[in-house]
Amino acid sequence: MESNKVIVALSGSIRDNSSTQKSLKSLGSYIPNEFDYIIYDGLQKLPHFNPELDGETPPLEVQSFRALLDKADGVVICTPEYIKGVPGVLKNALEWLVSSANLYTKPVAVITSSGGGENAHQALQLNLSMLNVDVSEGRTLLISGANSKQSENGEFANHEVVQSLKDLISNLIEQIK
Ligand SMILES: Cc1cc2nc3c(=O)[nH]c(=O)nc-3n(C[C@H](O)[C@H](O)[C@H](O)COP(=O)(O)O)c2cc1C
Repeated sequence: MESNKVIVALSGSIRDNSSTQKSLKSLGSYIPNEFDYIIYDGLQKLPHFNPELDGETPPLEVQSFRALLDKADGVVICTPEYIKGVPGVLKNALEWLVSSANLYTKPVAVITSSGGGENAHQALQLNLSMLNVDVSEGRTLLISGANSKQSENGEFANHEVVQSLKDLISNLIEQIK
């Protein structure tokens, strides 16, 4: 029997009550049942990237992060902006993927959801271009003023944002299929 396709989600915020993590949870409702949707919760366990640790046997958390991404047919990254850039925890995770190339040519959707967010949005796409990831047009979305558009459970009331999120996920799914 053929196994389900896998979409892995990464959050640039690791705090408990994170609106980014809530956004990723609510995005799950746009993903068809034939996909396994896995929100990775181990970013904070990854050690600081150090090329000297990235040898034959990298740290266990790094191994399992890479193995999960190897299984992924597509990836969704949702992040806030921190001090005009990509939050360190997410950037650190991406640095671990340089040598192992687990995202090489994989379809990735990028959502930056923040007060402003323009700088992180741009920087993240530059970071991903270094990993040769497939972030095509229609798979990037900047949601500025996010807090005022989002409910307590992470859903967006703004119709334009909801439609953009649905379009972005459809685009990702089409690319995976
Ligand atoms: C240390 C720190 C730096 C921040 N820097 C920025 C920034 O440069 N630009 C911006 O738009 N928002 C900035 N913010 C606001 C966050 O992006 C915003 O609160 C976001 O919703 C947090 O996401 P979360 O709820 O998923 O943790 C910053 C927040 C923190 C804690």
